[in-house]
Amino acid sequence: MKSNRPPVIAIDGPSASGKGTVAQEVARALKFHHLDSGALYRLVALATIEAGIDLESELRVYNITLNIKASFHSGATWLGTRDVTDSIRTEAVSAAASKVAALPKVREALLGRQRAFRQPPGLVADGRDMGSVVFPDAALKVFLTATPEERAQRRYKQLMEKGMSANMALLLQDIHERDARDSVRAVAPLQKCADAVEIDTTAMTVAEAVSKVLAQYAQALRAP
Ligand code: DC
Repeated sequence: MKSNRPPVIAIDGPSASGKGTVAQEVARALKFHHLDSGALYRLVALATIEAGIDLESELRVYNITLNIKASFHSGATWLGTRDVTDSIRTEAVSAAASKVAALPKVREALLGRQRAFRQPPGLVADGRDMGSVVFPDAALKVFLTATPEERAQRRYKQLMEKGMSANMALLLQDIHERDARDSVRAVAPLQKCADAVEIDTTAMTVAEAVSKVLAQYAQALRAP
């Protein structure tokens, strides 16, 4: 489906599939804007935890979502005037994000906010439902995957590099649990759209995955 609006490249996939890094690099190469939609769910989760609100209380989390002062600038993620780039990446916030992301009213409240990122010259958006729900008219839809073992390994390496401790078996278990939660929820579950191109990055470097997405985008632009 062609659109006259700024083009969108939608990159969806499971956690730790590398979609965030790949999306960022593709956006840089094309000088497009970048939306890390998972960061929005993480911000809602952090604000909910800090307000002492039950993560499953849909109306209350919805109210937090409507009033959240989220912004992305200066290379950081902000909640009001606070730099929360690192605080939204903790395991506790990751688990909480996956819970608030299952609430239909929260997803609905974030729709307009995500679509507002679609500005000239274009947008690379990564998440779970970028191609299926938020930008169904995306010029290119990519479903980025890697085996659970490879994703656990990447997460392990990241944590080690940050000087944090990690346990492979627990990381793998966490990845399986999060995949299950993100895939079976009733609203906007993680799934590959019929019109998405699947790229398995298990044996690829980031640079290879980025080239592959750029090549697919060039091909999509040439398509009639
Ligand atoms: O991509 P991530 O790991 O930062 O995402 C955090 C959580 O938010 C994850 O559990 C899935 C959820 N999420 C979602 O439901 N829809 C999106 N578009 C992006 C993230």
